Amino acid sequence: MTEVLPDEALSEREPIGRARSAPSGRAARPRVLFVSHTGTMSGAELVLRDAVQPWTGSTAFLFEDGTLAEALRGQGLEIRLAHRRTALTALRRDASPLSALPLLGRLGALMVEIARAARRCDVVYANSQKAFLLSALAARAVGRPLIWHLHDILDSAHFGRAQRILQVRLANLSAARVIVPSEAAARAFVSAGGRRSLVRVVPNGLDLERDPRPAASLRAELGLPAGPLVGVFSRIAPWKGQDVLIDALATLPGLRCIVVGAPLFGEDSYAAHLRDLAAARGLSDRILFLGQRDDVPRLMQAVDVVVHPSVDPEPFGRTLVEAMLAGVPVIATDTGASAEILDGEATGTLVPPRRPDRLAAALSELLGNPDAYAARTDRARARALSRYGASRMQHDLADLILEAVGRT
Ligand code: UDP
Ligand code: GLC
Repeated sequence: MTEVLPDEALSEREPIGRARSAPSGRAARPRVLFVSHTGTMSGAELVLRDAVQPWTGSTAFLFEDGTLAEALRGQGLEIRLAHRRTALTALRRDASPLSALPLLGRLGALMVEIARAARRCDVVYANSQKAFLLSALAARAVGRPLIWHLHDILDSAHFGRAQRILQVRLANLSAARVIVPSEAAARAFVSAGGRRSLVRVVPNGLDLERDPRPAASLRAELGLPAGPLVGVFSRIAPWKGQDVLIDALATLPGLRCIVVGAPLFGEDSYAAHLRDLAAARGLSDRILFLGQRDDVPRLMQAVDVVVHPSVDPEPFGRTLVEAMLAGVPVIATDTGASAEILDGEATGTLVPPRRPDRLAAALSELLGNPDAYAARTDRARARALSRYGASRMQHDLADLILEAVGRT
């Protein structure tokens, strides 16, 4: 679990800035309205779960019920669920904004609900894209500052042109701050037309307990095979590139692989494609599809190498940091934030995206000379511990929230 940001860190700042009076006459801690459109836990929601830790007593407005609602309730947040639960899955990232027309009634109702909730708070914090689009108008209507935690790379690989334009224009008009997890995401926001002065980079942070047992006992406990074993831990989605790893495996006899994760946002046909591909390459007995797991750190410690094969730019990639903390060598594609996180190749191997041949070569080099990479893996763990902890992220985000409310 993550360390709780001490309440004192915030209360020290309480007398500063715009104040809602507390009974003691001192300024009260601002009340934040956290808004999220999905109840499913992918990286952005895991970040939100950890980010709210210092904000017990604040409110979360969620478009749908689910694991996130449960997690935030557990963190002491008051949960308000949209009257008509919907994750707005019909609104796709690459679709024209006109596809929202049939949903206008529902979107309008959501905005009104967010505005009502926002009126009782000092600042609105929208997590991800859809939550931001609806919160922008709501926050404006009730005169509350708006923070957008943008977890995406706003480029043509991930979003249609009209959506990119809509998002940056709305951000330029209405956001007090746009928080992104990496320089790569910051650059993409600015290239899409976003105002540079709005952007703050707050790298994701997480804590992870390392199991003291050796990989061999973990494997036995987890029912995993002996021998060279590689793992991929991204959710199942075409841009996460699991197919490239399967193609690489086809050229590496004797190497097995675990594919961990599930298609969380409707990518079922890609999940089926991966199984078909494994069968077509004659790899069904060497690739284990483990589905969605809640013991990722332990599984990571049990493999010889973690591969992060995203084919489109990765905004951050918590799994990279998790692998570094687990003390396992990492091979990642050189796109998006990977090079920032791995400090070039100082703490991991970078390969070009969509190149099974290069991935296979990197795997064979690493697995053939494990001792040569031990010091690098230690450096990776030290880097993750010093730069990507949860407490640092919570402090950075709290500073930005207080700044948006005008208290610094
Ligand atoms: N994850 C998990 N179970 C799984 C697969 C992934 O808990 O079966 C977690 C993983 O440990 C990581 C997160 O999901 O913390 C994925 O975050 P990341 O930033 O890597 O990518 P995203 O899916 O958000 O694009
Ligand atoms: C998104 C991105 C991922 C990032 C996560 C948290 O889901 O795809 O790269 O780590 O958000 O910021």
